[in-house]
Amino acid sequence: MDSLRIGLVGFGTVGVGVGEILVQQSQRLTQRAGRSIQLVSAAVRNPAKRQSPLLKGGHVCSDGLDVAQDPGVDVVLELIGGLEPARQIVLAALEHGKHVVTANKALLCEHGEELFAAARRAGKTIAFEAAVAGGVPIIHVLGQSMAANQIVEIQAILNGTSNYILTEMFRHGASYGDAVRRAQEIGYAEADPSMDVKGTDAAQKLGLLTLLAFGTRVTPDKFLVQGIDTLEQADLRYADMLGYAVKLVATAKLVGGRLEMHTQPTLVRKDDPLAKVEGANNVISLTGDILGETWFSGMGAGREATASAVVADVIDLAVGRAQLTFPHLDLWGERPKFDLQPAEEIVRRYYLRFNVEDKPHVMADLTDVLGRNGISLASVIQQESPEVDESSSQGATVPLVIMTHRTTEGQYRKAAAELDRLTCVRLPRVCLPVAG
Ligand SMILES: NC(=O)c1ccc[n+]([C@@H]2O[C@H](COP(=O)([O-])OP(=O)(O)OC[C@H]3O[C@@H](n4cnc5c(N)ncnc54)[C@H](OP(=O)(O)O)[C@@H]3O)[C@@H](O)[C@H]2O)c1
Repeated sequence: MDSLRIGLVGFGTVGVGVGEILVQQSQRLTQRAGRSIQLVSAAVRNPAKRQSPLLKGGHVCSDGLDVAQDPGVDVVLELIGGLEPARQIVLAALEHGKHVVTANKALLCEHGEELFAAARRAGKTIAFEAAVAGGVPIIHVLGQSMAANQIVEIQAILNGTSNYILTEMFRHGASYGDAVRRAQEIGYAEADPSMDVKGTDAAQKLGLLTLLAFGTRVTPDKFLVQGIDTLEQADLRYADMLGYAVKLVATAKLVGGRLEMHTQPTLVRKDDPLAKVEGANNVISLTGDILGETWFSGMGAGREATASAVVADVIDLAVGRAQLTFPHLDLWGERPKFDLQPAEEIVRRYYLRFNVEDKPHVMADLTDVLGRNGISLASVIQQESPEVDESSSQGATVPLVIMTHRTTEGQYRKAAAELDRLTCVRLPRVCLPVAG
């Protein structure tokens, strides 16, 4: 049988990792794929990288579109990231009769509808195992292993950088700023870490999992997305005292026939498997209506984990598995299968932290606002403040932590608007949902 001819676009962290596997494991890949896998063409922007021995024997150019249109290529690996020109390269590859493998969740989240439709028209496959949770084979699980189930809930830690930062803050008492700097030093966080710490990356991945699991396309602008960038050491300590860890949890679940979705720092009971995930790892819990709950965990990013997933997709294309599965994935619905539950109607418990003036009636004022909005308190922590000079105009403030019983997001928002008008409550006011 002919070899499978690969065109590689992007020779950065993941591209180099893929090149290494193709060169170093060629015998193993030939055996698993039933034919040899040859890197025949590569687009490399940085001229210094063009001499890499990993690219020896292939045609090297600087424009990804050349690879996408190369008649000698069977499969294009899009590994440059970003939206453009990645989108044009994928479209060109499909139009020129090539399958595509991509690790680009941002691209699929933003342009998935257009790209999947183009693949269907062309009768070609887009394989994207590496786009969510790196080395954790969750796309295969959703598309194949759990195909007999309707997924009813996804709960996951999908951003390794945020989880590493939270672990540093919790285990080593680091401030948020110091933890981010440490993540940057060891290469977990980029120079601009916004996509990770603001929750966007995790929300995009949740969007992709939701498309596969629920046949419903939901972009991050449509559901609650909150990052870890406003968290303080104090919140991790109070959560700890109350028996919880704080994790950036991505959730999509069916509630009364509608889809509840959010990606937020969340209090998770310490005995919950989500709480035990440390460092840059990812974990995903899937609940199927037949199988029940099942867990998947591992390295969510990094050269080896991501390249391993990309090459697995290439092998699936070589043996024809990916082409069989792709047309049956839940990517094609004319209408979304499930409506999104409005954020105001989501029911959860909340952890609230206020800085309040240390004077009489403050507690009464605060609980009055919460009570009038139908929010009842499960527990309260108020620590003593140091003695202050009574004549000082700036009265002392004390932290007040409240755990609520179950209430709606809408009720909390109404109460929060009233609380902001109370002079005894100083910003920032912290509100984190509690899992379960
Ligand atoms: N790194 C991870 O752990 C990881 C995990 C999961 C998914 N991913 C995804 O994998 C993809 C690649 O990520 P990465 O970490 O490998 O990124 P990266 O290290 O920044 O590599 C991207 C490479 O693409 C090249 N490039 C950019 N635009 C190009 C163009 N127009 N034509 C040709 N080459 C171009 C860059 O060239 P220069 O070097 O010349 O700038 C760079 O070498 C992204 O979609 C990312 O989200 C990455």
